[in-house]
Amino acid sequence: MNTVNNLMTAIEDTGRDERRGGYSRPVYSSAELDLREWFTIEAQQRGLAVEQDHNGILWAWWDMPDDGRSLEQTRRGALVTGSHLDSVPGGGAFDGPLGVASALAAVDVLKSREQDGSLQRNRALAVAVFPEEEGSRFGVACLGSRLLAGAIEPEKALSLRDADGNTFADIARANGLNPDLMGRDEQVLARIGDFVELHVEQGRGLNTEEFTDHAGRGPAVAVASSILGHGRWRFSISGQGNHAGTTLMSDRADPMVAAAQLVLAVRKTAAAQSDARATIGRVEPVPGGTNVIASRVDVWMDVRHPDDAVTAMLVEKIHGQAQKVAALEGCTVQLTEESYSGTVHFDSALQRSLEQSTARTVPGAPVLATGAGHDAGVLAASVPTGMLFVRNPSGISHSPEEYVEDDDARLGVDALVDALQDLL
Ligand code: GLV
Ligand code: MN
Ligand code: MN
Repeated sequence: MNTVNNLMTAIEDTGRDERRGGYSRPVYSSAELDLREWFTIEAQQRGLAVEQDHNGILWAWWDMPDDGRSLEQTRRGALVTGSHLDSVPGGGAFDGPLGVASALAAVDVLKSREQDGSLQRNRALAVAVFPEEEGSRFGVACLGSRLLAGAIEPEKALSLRDADGNTFADIARANGLNPDLMGRDEQVLARIGDFVELHVEQGRGLNTEEFTDHAGRGPAVAVASSILGHGRWRFSISGQGNHAGTTLMSDRADPMVAAAQLVLAVRKTAAAQSDARATIGRVEPVPGGTNVIASRVDVWMDVRHPDDAVTAMLVEKIHGQAQKVAALEGCTVQLTEESYSGTVHFDSALQRSLEQSTARTVPGAPVLATGAGHDAGVLAASVPTGMLFVRNPSGISHSPEEYVEDDDARLGVDALVDALQDLL
């Protein structure tokens, strides 16, 4: 039987980023396509039937034994688990792939239990792989699940561009998808009875004093309660492109100077608001030359807070500050919201079921809120969803240093197996 550790080892060389460190696996890059291929083969070797839906989501089906019903009928209300295979630039090995590998490992155990009679299934099970969870190529996180759930207009999604100027429509087409068929898919949604996503914990939630033992070790698994509301905004600050050597300091309208002040304003504003997080993680000067005063700087901002009204207030406040620092530098600023996901509370009945099963497998497993976004959060508006988190000793994520210990990954699979068995 392939353990989750073996499965993770099998993909440890795929998409390594020598420059940034860690992994860069943007959606529909050769690395992500290789991982999809790996997933497809692993799923088929387990007797699962793999298909891709109109939104590029992979589904690996373990159907009910033939009882005369149509395939469509057996798949309605199925139990679904899985996660994503794409990564942020220079990300860790576990964010996404751990949930997919754990799902495959869980299928192994559940199949052997069915064979020895210790599992009686009442529903079909599917493992799903969602594309562009990170939004690292086209800018909108959870693009696959958003399309499926109708949480983004297909026209908007299709017109998104990557850093090379390719539209999502072009890339989708090049990967065998029909852009005309993308968008909310009632038939696929009707197949999901419950969705349980296992994921690496991405903060220090399992390592707080409240949960750690005398050796400073927290429990291996937690059950999710909620996801912080979060969104992405783009400031475009325009000034006067010019020569670095001939333009007097007093004659400049340099959008990079305004951008620098904006970065500091974001930090200060978020730090003054309890529970707020705000980040500038990406800045792009146009045209971007050492001896060129930029004509425009695009600044991407990520803001998160449990209260959606507070998030809106923070963005408004920061927008005002951006206008002020831009004006002082003789620049103008335009703000565009690229995506927003309100705070999500996971389905209470599913959460209770996960708490009960996990308490048996990992005694003391706590219930945690998370500041990270997930496809389970987007799908929560359409179907019951829940999540399990696996301990991350340092709490570091979206970094090459993200880490999960082998024993914890195996305990994560044990917890997932028991959770799925209770729900099957
Ligand atoms: C995804 O991991 C996010 O929270 O941005
Ligand atoms: Mn992530
Ligand atoms: Mn993730």
